[in-house]
Amino acid sequence: MINSKQLINMINLAKECNLCAMSFFRQLDNTQVIFKKDESPLTKADIEVNKIAINGLKKNFPNISIVSEELESSHNFLENDKPFWLVDPIDGTKEFINKNPNFTVNFALIKNNLPVFGLIAQPFTDTIWYSFGGKAWKIEKDYKIEKSEQIQCSKINYNKISTFSSSSHRSKELEDWITLVKPQKDINIGSSIKFCHLAEGKADLYPRTSPTMEWDIAAGHSILKAAGGNVYCDAGLEMRYGKVNFKNTNFLAFGKTPYLPPKFLLFLNKHDVDKYENDLVQAKNELVKQNLVAFPTETVYGLGAIGSSKKAIRSIYAAKRRPSNNPLIAHTFSKKEAEKYIEFTEIANVLANNFWPGPLTIVGQTKKNKISNILSQGKSTLAIRVPSHPLAMDLIKRVNVPILAPSANLSGGVSPTKAEHVKKDFGPHFKGKGWKLSKILDYETSYVGIESTVVDCRGEKPIILRHGYITKEMISEILETEVLDPNDDELISPGLLKSHYSPKADVFLDQKISMENAGWLTFGNTPKSLQKNKNLFNLSPSKNLFQACCLLYSGLRYLDSKGVKNIQVMPIPNIGIGVAINDRLQRASCKL
Ligand code: TXA
Ligand code: MG
Repeated sequence: MINSKQLINMINLAKECNLCAMSFFRQLDNTQVIFKKDESPLTKADIEVNKIAINGLKKNFPNISIVSEELESSHNFLENDKPFWLVDPIDGTKEFINKNPNFTVNFALIKNNLPVFGLIAQPFTDTIWYSFGGKAWKIEKDYKIEKSEQIQCSKINYNKISTFSSSSHRSKELEDWITLVKPQKDINIGSSIKFCHLAEGKADLYPRTSPTMEWDIAAGHSILKAAGGNVYCDAGLEMRYGKVNFKNTNFLAFGKTPYLPPKFLLFLNKHDVDKYENDLVQAKNELVKQNLVAFPTETVYGLGAIGSSKKAIRSIYAAKRRPSNNPLIAHTFSKKEAEKYIEFTEIANVLANNFWPGPLTIVGQTKKNKISNILSQGKSTLAIRVPSHPLAMDLIKRVNVPILAPSANLSGGVSPTKAEHVKKDFGPHFKGKGWKLSKILDYETSYVGIESTVVDCRGEKPIILRHGYITKEMISEILETEVLDPNDDELISPGLLKSHYSPKADVFLDQKISMENAGWLTFGNTPKSLQKNKNLFNLSPSKNLFQACCLLYSGLRYLDSKGVKNIQVMPIPNIGIGVAINDRLQRASCKL
């Protein structure tokens, strides 16, 4: 975060950038436009504003790295586990060249991969929008902080939606999305100004299905969030920064709403509306018939059974060959639903409010009612999560009973991140004694790539039973308390056996020298000595931990399919989400 003095410095810096941009804008002619490698235009204004922005940030924040659109060397920046600035000196260069006033200057400070401060300046109107102290602000025609006015999103009225679907980026996906959402009003403006207008309540939704870079949206994200809205990626999770090559996935920016219709997210990607409807109807029917259905979640694919049937639950254990003492996670579509089944302690409330829907599982005391008793299989504790994946959400809603779902793999093996992994584990017959997998919903690769973080929330302090995408640091920051690790000798989470997630090959960690008949999971540049090895899977050439997490299970499965005897893994930093990656690899390497 930044303090008030630093905020004043940022506003002064924005003013300097605005003046510089306007001096070029007034005297602009076509001779000043050049084209970059990606054919996007660049003007002298971009270059000069960039210089001012970078010098200003270096002076005010000497220890924080800067990634700027117009500083190519910064695009190789790899330490995304530390705070960094994302800068777009002029967003909307096309507007700038066309003498359209909607171009902006953008600054965002990223910490733990989320924007903690954002500032957008519009030079033409002398306006600045920024986030500070958990609120969003606007200053017009003046650069005096005391003249800032608070701004807020308006609450989305789903019968009267207004959107920004800028006309220069109308993809087929966007056309389909508009057909589905049927906005009453569609406003066409360029650049990051759209976020500011959302934050002021002038529109409800900004869907984006064509490419954007992180510096285009991070400042807007921060301001919008502080105004009561947010930006979600297509997997239903808040957009994170420091991704591979700073590229964004499709996203939806939105105003205030307690609930976002899952379809609004799912249809940011190309899907057939009729097929989707059919898939959901069939999946629901099979679940109600007490058969199993595999479905995507944002973490891994799940093997679902209806939570009201003991028979269906037993069939999960038969299909997976899972030890009967290992309880299952119940998936609900809202916190309110989850509250029917477990006691919410203070910390459970805070964690659910901050991380649901999403890859966090809360273990709580089971409430005394019939469904809770079935879900928990008579145990005094029950694990629950609200998945963010829009299809999972829609399916649970339709069934209207929690769905119990472990990862859709054979017990002890590698979890599935694609439908084809599920088919491999349970095919070719998809049934056996006491179980039938009747439907596999095939919808994209899981976004996160490893299972949810499991937290025991029964006490005053949270205990992390399984590491995941929601890290220990994130939990402790939100709760402002210490986060405990489980006691080794009391096995609170029976699934947390030392050996788990194991491929057929033996796995060796922190490897440097090649063994015979070994496949390699590499991270970063492939060492020269390995370049000829055919059985090699690079988790992330650019050393990006999100990418490594997403590809981890595919990598293990790929090397297994090559029939190697050993899998050697290069060292992976044990920071941020790397802790969860190393945890899974540790268990994969352990043969008991
Ligand atoms: O991301 C996920 O959590 C995925 C997707 C499908 O939602 N599900 C998943 O389920 O990974 P499973 O069954 O593979 O792992 C559940 C973990 C196990 O380690 C289990 O022991 C633990 O959660 N668990 C379940 N119920 C528990 C309880 N009552 N107390 C403590 N741990 C529990
Ligand atoms: Mg599992």
